Amino acid sequence: RHFLKLASTLAVGLVLAACSKQEPAAPVEAASAPASEPAPVKVYTVGTDAAYAPFEYQNEKGEIVGFSVDLLNAVAEKGGFQVKFINTPWEGIFNALTQGDRDLLISSITITDERKQTMDFSDPYFDAIQLIAVKADSKVAKFEDLKKLKVGVQTGTTGDEVVTKLQGKTSTLIKRFESTPLALKELEAGGVDAVVADNGVVIHYVANNPDAKFKTVADTKSFAPEQYGIAVKKGNAELLALINKGLAAVKADGTYAAIYKKTFGTEPPAAAAPA
Ligand code: ARG
Repeated sequence: RHFLKLASTLAVGLVLAACSKQEPAAPVEAASAPASEPAPVKVYTVGTDAAYAPFEYQNEKGEIVGFSVDLLNAVAEKGGFQVKFINTPWEGIFNALTQGDRDLLISSITITDERKQTMDFSDPYFDAIQLIAVKADSKVAKFEDLKKLKVGVQTGTTGDEVVTKLQGKTSTLIKRFESTPLALKELEAGGVDAVVADNGVVIHYVANNPDAKFKTVADTKSFAPEQYGIAVKKGNAELLALINKGLAAVKADGTYAAIYKKTFGTEPPAAAAPA
């Protein structure tokens, strides 16, 4: 029995070998690996808070997907490195970087002067601004109207910062959540009067949850323009250079525009991909 099995395996092997011989000799890059081969491609760990559709979120299979994932994969390809995404809660995300648990972060992180003191940022890759979400029948018309209302934010985000500035540090009306979707669910449940968060995420949530009966209130006079950057550990100039090289390449060759269109269904505004 064993012998027969072995013989048939050999026979199959011979047939396969014969077949492959008839194929034209294709150049096999991987096989020609002399000592001059470049160092193996480095795999960098990526922290992302994957509760932020359409930028970074988990699909039904639990895979981390979204604009940021597509973008960073393309950037890595051009920059000559590899990435491994790890779902990382927002509240610990900056610590994970400084402690060396993650090599880089892509998580719709707004580049701010304060954050620049503890980490280094890539060139900006996305323009954003805060946006207010309220129930459709709300009288809120501008940011100032939230001064004495209960407002939901994601802890430690730029949304948290602006609302804290408006209401004061000791305000008891700010409800802080570990994710932006949780804050929006609380708005739906009536536990807060408004949510302030990044425009892209609010617009996506409102569009995909018509039963929540939300509307958005834009107030471009009250909110400063924001830009997302990819963060690396302070001083990691080597990785930062690879990222910026890759970013420039995907912006230049249309890859950025294609990923933008896949995600948002429209061409990127000229300012969304600052050169
Ligand atoms: N852009 C905002 C900030 O940097 C919010 C980002 C939150 N990102 C996330 N994946 N939860 O503070």
